Amino acid sequence: MKKILVTGSGGIGGVNFVRALRVIDEKFFIVGTDFNQYHLEFPDVDIRVRTPRHSDPQFIPLIKKIVSENSIDFIHPQPSSESLVISEDSELKQKTFLPNSSIMSYDKLTTQKTLFKNNIPVAITKTLSSIDELQSCFEKFSGGPLWIRSKKGAGGNLSLLCNNHEEAEYWINLWIMKNNAILDDFMIQEYLPGRNIAWDSFWHEGKLIASYSRERIEYPFKHISPSGITGTPTVSKIIVDENINKLSESAIKCIDEKPHGNYAVDLKGDQNNKMNITEIDSGKFHTTTPLWGYISSKIFKQNPLFNLPYLYVKLGLGEITEPKILGNDIYPDQTTLLRHIDCGDWILKKDGSKVQVL
Ligand SMILES: Nc1ncnc2c1ncn2[C@@H]1O[C@H](COP(=O)(O)OP(=O)(O)O)[C@@H](O)[C@H]1O
Ligand SMILES: [Mg+2]
Repeated sequence: MKKILVTGSGGIGGVNFVRALRVIDEKFFIVGTDFNQYHLEFPDVDIRVRTPRHSDPQFIPLIKKIVSENSIDFIHPQPSSESLVISEDSELKQKTFLPNSSIMSYDKLTTQKTLFKNNIPVAITKTLSSIDELQSCFEKFSGGPLWIRSKKGAGGNLSLLCNNHEEAEYWINLWIMKNNAILDDFMIQEYLPGRNIAWDSFWHEGKLIASYSRERIEYPFKHISPSGITGTPTVSKIIVDENINKLSESAIKCIDEKPHGNYAVDLKGDQNNKMNITEIDSGKFHTTTPLWGYISSKIFKQNPLFNLPYLYVKLGLGEITEPKILGNDIYPDQTTLLRHIDCGDWILKKDGSKVQVL
């Protein structure tokens, strides 16, 4: 039986990843780690180990100890912070299936600049060397509104739609005052009011193996979050759009000439719903990619390799060396996923039927 280490396994993405492997007939021995002692109870793992934060000097030595004591064959690290430090360690990197750490460490501003240079549609973006530049910034964008966001992080970190420079100034200053943010953490963007799209993809040595697109329709607790963005959606729907496929594929190739592993792309429509790329997370599954993998095996009853975490693990273990190309749009068009705390997970199929997933 192969032995897999899943770090950050108590996060929703981690729980989903373990679930995606457990639904397959093949048995794995899974060690799960997490920083949060309570969340560590969630995943269906064989052994649970609490780890310090990724920035703690003891983090990497402890991961190495877990790997050696449990004879781990493959490491799936997450979230991005843990993934990055693990990918920077040459010994641990060998047991992962990740792009180079130099590519994984691209922040949202570097991605925006690289894509802009390559004529990929992105939001016009400014950065500030002084808070006083906000006024001229809004003037340049015909008064706004503008979207404030962070260069780094997840969960819509530091995001807010601001109608004028005063609002933006209050927002930025409050974060600087209360949460140790610095001016350089922020980027100021043209507001893209259109559709919110996610493109999930899996690559092998420069070749696209599989992808699918989803429209994010609703976020949980959006009414109590200033930006309305709370990370992972309660309602999302599979869509098929050739333009999104082409655009996302070429955007990834601008960032990494030989993509290898998982690449999660975020897109947002402008007022005419012309798509712009807002982020590329190299080496990362979106939180629900493994849940879609589980749904693929359990509900759609597709070939197990359509369960992307399983395909990724098989490649990571070297058990598959020449993966078959599954192509774009691997999941059924217009399937809606509904999920929420204590409400269960459901699929609404295109024909209107409803199936409980969890
Ligand atoms: N310029 C923008 N205008 C409007 N919405 C945006 C803009 N940039 C990002 N967003 C929205 O914010 C969401 C979160 O984006 P981001 O700041 O990259 O955080 P995360 O890491 O959580 O994805 C995006 O999926 C998109 O819906
Ligand atoms: Mg994102």
